[in-house]
Amino acid sequence: MRISVFGLGYVGTVSCSCLGDLGHDVIGVDVNDVKVERIGKGESPIIEDGLDEIMAKVHAAGRISACTSADDAVRDSDLALVCVGTPSTPSGGVNDEYLIRVSEQIGAAVKKHDKEFFTILNRSTGLPYIHEKMQEVLEASSGRKMGEGIGYVCHPEFLREGVAVEDFYNPPKIVFGATDKKSEAICRELYPGIDAETFFVTPGVASMVKYADNCFHAAKVTFGNEIGMICKAMGIDSHAVMDIFCADRKLNISPRYLKPGFAYGGSCLPKDIRGILDGARQTATGLPMLSGIRDSNPLQIESLLKRIVSPDRPTVGILGLAFKEGTDDVRESPIVTLVERLCGKGHPVCIYDRYLSLANLVGENLNFALQSIPHLAELLTENMQEVVDRADIIVVSHRCTPEIWAGIKWRENQRVIDVINIPELHDVPGYDGLYW
Ligand SMILES: NC(=O)c1ccc[n+]([C@@H]2O[C@H](COP(=O)([O-])OP(=O)(O)OC[C@H]3O[C@@H](n4cnc5c(N)ncnc54)[C@H](O)[C@@H]3O)[C@@H](O)[C@H]2O)c1
Repeated sequence: MRISVFGLGYVGTVSCSCLGDLGHDVIGVDVNDVKVERIGKGESPIIEDGLDEIMAKVHAAGRISACTSADDAVRDSDLALVCVGTPSTPSGGVNDEYLIRVSEQIGAAVKKHDKEFFTILNRSTGLPYIHEKMQEVLEASSGRKMGEGIGYVCHPEFLREGVAVEDFYNPPKIVFGATDKKSEAICRELYPGIDAETFFVTPGVASMVKYADNCFHAAKVTFGNEIGMICKAMGIDSHAVMDIFCADRKLNISPRYLKPGFAYGGSCLPKDIRGILDGARQTATGLPMLSGIRDSNPLQIESLLKRIVSPDRPTVGILGLAFKEGTDDVRESPIVTLVERLCGKGHPVCIYDRYLSLANLVGENLNFALQSIPHLAELLTENMQEVVDRADIIVVSHRCTPEIWAGIKWRENQRVIDVINIPELHDVPGYDGLYW
């Protein structure tokens, strides 16, 4: 394919050279003359392991050139990769001025050269609204509608500087957020021979994958450092701890505990977070991330309450009271706190939990339940359908078998708030996913 690459920084230069190496004809575009001149001579303007050799090879084969004219580059290509910078504004926002400028230039050139169909793949990192704004600018400047003569794809980049060339040929994944089928077909031809799991999603999902990745990477670094700090303060070798932590691929380095859902609870996580924070206090060790976790958890309950509480006090049905399904442990269950708060605000509440029987609760478990909800016995029923029949709003916090869900008769005029994402419920009338 004939590809123009806008922005010859770290992402753009690696993309130019490696796409050329895959057999495409590539034109690099930048406002910086020095970068353009260097690429014009087959020299890389940036330092990356292995890049000089690939650039020289592709240049010698005549598959790479560079210019400062967006107009010429669009004229001589069928799709554009946008790799311009998106630095922070002074207030911390995403500066989209380069993206908007490039969109205006590309749109105008598409119009001027009457391109049959032109696809813009945006590799720069931006929030979902920026991708929407770019599409609007591209439509306005080209005089075309998305999918009709022009296509847009949010195509986040996951390379790491220093090993960017290696990451190009072995990416952790490839993500395309395309707006139309024609652009999707072009995406499938972009990386011949590159073997990576590939996802086709909406531009919004694609753009947030990039942010989720970088937030997680930063969270991992910070988590490791905070464990290091508290270990050091207590005279423990943190690498010995984290080596074993990382060896656990079942619960730690795994998808467990990572999908959006409700607050954590139970007899261990809240207590042990409090415990390590007490250790931090005793050793005067600041652990802002771990204390942030403690402070973030109650916000989950608050935000769910906001979606339920209203002056006409609808009856709330709870399907699952224990901190997770398969146990009758209600200690520090966030759903118990939710019920306590709803009762305090005068909402009638009814509860079904198939593992929970007040008669069988003993010790701390019973104490916690009755301290939080003294009249719990009056709220519990042994029949899930009864809760569904009585409630205006149902909060589902436990899973059941598909057969059990299939047997439930939902009402038309009720809301079903699912806090754990149960696919069998997605089509229930009044369904309301927590964060999906
Ligand atoms: N650097 C990385 O490791 C990395 C990894 C993944 C994603 N990203 C994202 O990719 C984007 C680019 O990052 P980078 O590090 O390559 O940026 P960079 O600052 O190194 O390069 C951006 C280039 O865009 C050029 N440019 C600006 N306006 C232009 C215009 N109108 N026409 C043509 N060129 C123009 C600049 O002159 C500059 O050379 C950013 O959104 C960044 O967040 C970067």
